[in-house]
Amino acid sequence: MNKPADIFPKVISHAKEYGYVFPSSEIYDGLGAIYDYGQYGVELKNNIKAYWWKAMVQMNENIVGLDSAIFMAPKIWKASGHVDNFSDPLIDNKDSKRRYRADVLLEDKIQQYQKKGKTDKAAELETAMGKCLTENDLAGLKNLILEHEIVDETGSKNWTDVRQFNLMFSTQMGALAEGSEETYLRPETAQGIFVNFLNVQKTSRQKIPFGIAQIGKAFRNEIVARQFLFRMREFEQMEMQYFVRPNAEIEWYNYWKEKRMNWHLSLGIPAENYRFHDHAKLAHYANAACDIEYEFPFGFKEVEGIHSRTDFDLSRHQEFSGKKLQYFDPELNQNYVPFVVETSIGADRMFLLILCNAYTEEVLEDQSTRVVLKLPPVLAPIKVALLPLMKKDGLPEKARAIFDDLRFQFHCQYDEKDAIGKRYRRQDAIGTPYCITIDHQSLEDDTVTIRFRDTMEQKRIPINGILAIVKEELNEEKMLRGI
Ligand code: GAP
Repeated sequence: MNKPADIFPKVISHAKEYGYVFPSSEIYDGLGAIYDYGQYGVELKNNIKAYWWKAMVQMNENIVGLDSAIFMAPKIWKASGHVDNFSDPLIDNKDSKRRYRADVLLEDKIQQYQKKGKTDKAAELETAMGKCLTENDLAGLKNLILEHEIVDETGSKNWTDVRQFNLMFSTQMGALAEGSEETYLRPETAQGIFVNFLNVQKTSRQKIPFGIAQIGKAFRNEIVARQFLFRMREFEQMEMQYFVRPNAEIEWYNYWKEKRMNWHLSLGIPAENYRFHDHAKLAHYANAACDIEYEFPFGFKEVEGIHSRTDFDLSRHQEFSGKKLQYFDPELNQNYVPFVVETSIGADRMFLLILCNAYTEEVLEDQSTRVVLKLPPVLAPIKVALLPLMKKDGLPEKARAIFDDLRFQFHCQYDEKDAIGKRYRRQDAIGTPYCITIDHQSLEDDTVTIRFRDTMEQKRIPINGILAIVKEELNEEKMLRGI
């Protein structure tokens, strides 16, 4: 089920043409790696977030939600290590003046070796790169780029030295006269969870193990923002911090690895398009970490991270704030700083994954091409389209009456413009899983035709049976039970 690489430009133009994603500030020629979600995009993104929230908060009695502010005390970023460590190795090409991440250039080379079956070379390079990253050996990274004859997009091998570049956006808070202070746009939502750990634990009366989940914007001044929604400078994260006893973290890390993979698979995305990837370089806060990777049209790439963050963050906040961030464990009769297992997924990256997985071109019997977004129905922006066969004889009124009833349950769309075939194509292109056609027979016997998007199969059903059929087809309960 792998999608060919050349499908990617089509996905991008389809997303724009059908109101999913627009380049931000487009009439001013856009802004690098910032995107706006259109009328269907916002629905799909909201549905992704709602499905994640349900799986995390609604289905787990010991996980509660939070919505912390984007701006936080600047000292938080010193404590978390982001001021000193949150940087990427940057390299410029002297001829083309293009800027790259040294580690991404090397990862692309590893993938090229793998594709050509040169697995030994790929493994050797991966190990060498991991060593350089762990040891912060920037000269070593450059040597690898030269040794493996990596060229930029213009074919040039003329590289500068590698240097570190901090990814946080900074700004001033308060009027200058009052003595403004430099602060940062948060680069991850997790720190808002850590600094609220005791507030939430005490007010929710949760006992360890328990989790705090949050969805919110994060900002990173990415060196190379590319591949559409994959690497943005303003994006949204869906993060969950799970607080556990010291020494229990690896057990919970394995538990969440499996749970999170099950969440992805519950959406019906083929398992062969996913894999786990253990980190070659552990972040400054982690004692185990892996990515859930998906095979995008441009290769296997991270969509979610699972990290065992030890007690690093809470201990550092305890140290920098001077406030105790400890939990009294009644069973052990002991105070301790909990350890944390984190699951962190990008809402936009998940959106891109869903679009890439859904985009399908089918050649029909009449040799025409049908472009259809085979979205998981539970995520589709519009669940049901009501289509009167004709604009007369009372059919629009009948269709509108069904629409007015059904929209209390699902997001529906009423459409009477153009021939029925053209309307079906429009709904296929935005990914509507069920189309209901109302014809003259509907006036006589209160039946309609339901058409299923993926198979184009059509069935005659009673009007009062639509709700039950669509609910059963959406199948959200079964999906959540399977996680
Ligand atoms: N709190 C841990 C953390 O932020 P991360 O691996 O840096 O970990 C987690 O980010 C997830 O956020 C990634 O797996 C990815 O889905 C998403 N993400 C990170 N940077 C992104 C970017 N520039 N654009 C879009 N999504 C991004």
